Amino acid sequence: MAKITYIAHDGSERTVDVKPGLSVMEGAVKNNVPGIDADCGGACACATCHVYVQEPWLDKVGKPSAMEESMLDFAEGVEPNSRLSCQIKVSDALDGLVVKTPESQH
Ligand code: FES
Repeated sequence: MAKITYIAHDGSERTVDVKPGLSVMEGAVKNNVPGIDADCGGACACATCHVYVQEPWLDKVGKPSAMEESMLDFAEGVEPNSRLSCQIKVSDALDGLVVKTPESQH
């Protein structure tokens, strides 16, 4: 299990155990963590699972694929540390990952 912390826009935090192999989006949805809508269910087709990856995790999480980058264009408030959480696969190497959810997913 990897511990993933989700920080909401209002600063409230939730840390949950997520099974390696699931996505950061699935970890939120399965644990009823608010702030991630995931309308397309993880197909990289909606951009409503936008999160900001917090330092020092950016390098470990890696860069978005070309498809993810073009889908991120549909998200609001995109920053250099923006990712679509359905495209981040949880592994033991990401134990402790911290992501922030935006004010809204549209
Ligand atoms: S859940 Fe739709 S792009 Fe991630």
